[in-house]
Amino acid sequence: MDRKILEQTLVLIKPDALKNSLTGYILSQLSEFHTGLRFAGTKIVHVSKMLAEEHYAEHRGKVFFPSLLDYIMGNLHYPDEPEKHRVIAIVYQGTDTVKKIRDIVGPTNPHIAREQKPGCIRALGTVVPLKDAEGTVIGERMDNLIHASANDSDAEREIKLWFRPNDIPPFMHAYPTGVSKDYYFFKNNKLYMKDEPGSICFLVPGDTVWKSDLETLRLLQQGISAPCSLSSVVAKYLINEKRE
Ligand code: RTP
Ligand code: MG
Repeated sequence: MDRKILEQTLVLIKPDALKNSLTGYILSQLSEFHTGLRFAGTKIVHVSKMLAEEHYAEHRGKVFFPSLLDYIMGNLHYPDEPEKHRVIAIVYQGTDTVKKIRDIVGPTNPHIAREQKPGCIRALGTVVPLKDAEGTVIGERMDNLIHASANDSDAEREIKLWFRPNDIPPFMHAYPTGVSKDYYFFKNNKLYMKDEPGSICFLVPGDTVWKSDLETLRLLQQGISAPCSLSSVVAKYLINEKRE
């Protein structure tokens, strides 16, 4: 299929949007009627620390990073209700997908969104001051309701991080897949090829896998450093797993 028609992006409807009952509004703004884009995949995710850290890897070390993890994990909006710790993850597909969605989503900072692009989704968000233990303001957190991939390469990384190939109908796959020939196990951030007490088997022979993940696993298995981390491969297999 034409690469342009296949362009995909990842959208996350974040916990503040769920809390404010904005899901329907957001889905409507992004609907095929408005954007010409189609759903390729969707899931409700209880976001683990591992997934949150991988998703926001580029912000590691920044002052707002810990609160960003707590935000996406649902800890801030539902501190006492773990059953409500969810985001809605969606893959949209179509023409000019990344740009069309980023336009409707608007600027990262909701204050700027309201000034520069009234009517965009993030114009409905809030900015919350971040304080240290003494109460001094050390930065700000942007509760901006929605995530949308910033460019094609981020979209590829993020879709492969949140979705397995089989979460997406085969004719809608935008990235190459392969088939696992081995068993793969995970325990304490380590990869094993044989069952270890307490390990989780995340792939078996015959499973369809993103080709780039198979390559990462092949390198890690040989003790060679890979361009992607083990967590970035494994996180999607632990989504909604109670054992993680
Ligand atoms: P997103 O990844 O969520 O779609 O947002 P974005 O591309 O517009 O912004 P990005 O720079 O990737 O930041 C990711 C999320 O981190 C929070 N953030 N806070 N306090 C700050 O300076 C700051 N900068 C970013 C926001 O929640 C943003 O959505
Ligand atoms: Mg971003």
